[in-house]
Amino acid sequence: MVKHRQSDRKYSDKPVEKEKIQQCIETTQLAPSANNSQPWKFVVVDNPELKEQIAGCSASLGMNKFTHEAPVIVAVVLEKQNILSTVGSVIKNKEFRLLDIGIAVNQFCLQATDLGLGTCIIGWFDEKKVKTLLHVARNKRVPLLISLGYSESPTRKKIRKPIEEMSSWNRY
Ligand SMILES: Cc1cc2nc3c(=O)[nH]c(=O)nc-3n(C[C@H](O)[C@H](O)[C@H](O)COP(=O)(O)O)c2cc1C
Repeated sequence: MVKHRQSDRKYSDKPVEKEKIQQCIETTQLAPSANNSQPWKFVVVDNPELKEQIAGCSASLGMNKFTHEAPVIVAVVLEKQNILSTVGSVIKNKEFRLLDIGIAVNQFCLQATDLGLGTCIIGWFDEKKVKTLLHVARNKRVPLLISLGYSESPTRKKIRKPIEEMSSWNRY
C-alpha cells in the first residue's frame, strides 16, 4: 500500500462512498501521537458547493487546480495538545503537534490508497479563507488539506533520494 500511494492530481467525478471516508477517519483515529495527545480534528468537506469554495482557496498561482476535480477535501485542524505534550515540546524544543499531524495525515492517505482512493496532501492554500468557510476559530491553525477521490492519475515512478543518502547505519 505504501508503494502505491502517490499524490494524485487528477480525479474522476465518481463520488466517494461515505463508508470509505468513514473508514479513513477510523484508521486515522488510531494514529500515534506524542503523549497520545491527538491534537487534530479532520473536517470532511463533501458538500459540493462548500467543497468548490474550499478548492478555490487552494488553487492559485497555477498550483492545486486539481482540487476543483476532487469530490472531497478534508481540512486538518491543529487542536490543543495535552499538558504533557505541551511541557515535553517546550523542554525538548520539538514541535510534537506538527509531527503528530503529519503522521495522522499519512495514515489517512494510506488507508485511502488501500480502499482504492487517491489523495494529495496540500499545504499551499489560503488558510484564513478556509477557516472562515469552515467556522474554525481564529486562534486555531489549519496546516493541511487532503484532496480525496477516485484517481485518474497514471501511476508515476517514485523520485527519491538514494538510500545511501537518506539513511546510514551506526553513525550519521
Ligand atoms: C506537507 C506537504 C504539503 C504538500 N503540499 C502540496 C501542495 O500544496 N500541492 C501539491 O500538489 N502537492 C503537495 N504535496 C505533495 C508532495 O509534492 C508530494 O508528496 C511529493 O512530491 C512526493 O510525491 P508523491 O506523494 O507522489 O510520492 C505536499 C506534501 C506534503 C507532505
